[in-house]
Amino acid sequence: MDRKPKNILITGASSGLGAALALAYAEKDVTLFLSGRNEPRLIAVADKARRKGAEVYPERVNVTDSKGMAAWIHKIEQSYPLDLVIANAGISAGTGGGDETPVQSEAIFATNVQGVFNTLWPALEGMKKRHSGQLALMASLAGFRGLAGAPSYCASKACVRVYGEALRAEMAACGIKVNVICPGFVETPMTGANGFPMPFLMQPDEAAQIIKKGLAANKPRLTFPWRLAALVWILAALPPRIMDPLLARLPKKA
Ligand SMILES: NC(=O)c1ccc[n+]([C@@H]2O[C@H](COP(=O)([O-])OP(=O)(O)OC[C@H]3O[C@@H](n4cnc5c(N)ncnc54)[C@H](OP(=O)(O)O)[C@@H]3O)[C@@H](O)[C@H]2O)c1
Repeated sequence: MDRKPKNILITGASSGLGAALALAYAEKDVTLFLSGRNEPRLIAVADKARRKGAEVYPERVNVTDSKGMAAWIHKIEQSYPLDLVIANAGISAGTGGGDETPVQSEAIFATNVQGVFNTLWPALEGMKKRHSGQLALMASLAGFRGLAGAPSYCASKACVRVYGEALRAEMAACGIKVNVICPGFVETPMTGANGFPMPFLMQPDEAAQIIKKGLAANKPRLTFPWRLAALVWILAALPPRIMDPLLARLPKKA
């Protein structure tokens, strides 16, 4: 796809990064399919995107509902072949309140991993037939090194990143682009729960523009901001025997 994407689907568009992405792509001749669970917030984002000239179809659907996601995406594809799908919806939680519970772990994996699969698998069906399209998967810089404060969150994001990298290589032969997005800290309701200083904190609009530009350039892996990305890269490269005691002292996610 060497032209600007026209039919774009974004999950988790009712808040934070997803909402900022919806508004970054909203313009005349663009059709947006936006999902979330919170209808009033989703409708408010859809209204803003319409005011920027886009045609917008909000849908209240839970990414953990595989049948609901497939039905929604198949229905869209009948009339609007998707050019770009951003699997963004996610939740976060950590060990700030004590040990991670099985319930917390399950919820994080159901949304951040299975929710991404539930988005990309039905979308891939049409893209494979057309030999075109682009899938962007929302991972995180937190997915490069396991942190004691957020074990399941880090692991879920590592899974999405690695899956996306593998899929990218496989789909290239079909003419489909796959990108993994690995932001650092972005000021959203998700990070609002973090009661600790967040280095190089970015605004959602700025992050959305970086993502839009990176996807247009088909960057395989969008890691930003670069200073935090460099730091994470070093942390991940150092031996666990040195890093574990230091990382264990970091504040834990709520
Ligand atoms: N903020 C950061 O610093 C940061 C950094 C790296 C990566 N990320 C990733 O970026 C993505 C967006 O995060 P954010 O910071 O923008 O958080 P956010 O403001 O809390 O937004 C999360 C979005 O995901 C949706 N969502 C959550 N669970 C869902 C479910 N089961 N079904 C459908 N939608 C669901 C929410 O919709 P409803 O509330 O309407 O359900 C909301 O629109 C996440 O994948 C997150 O892990 C964020």
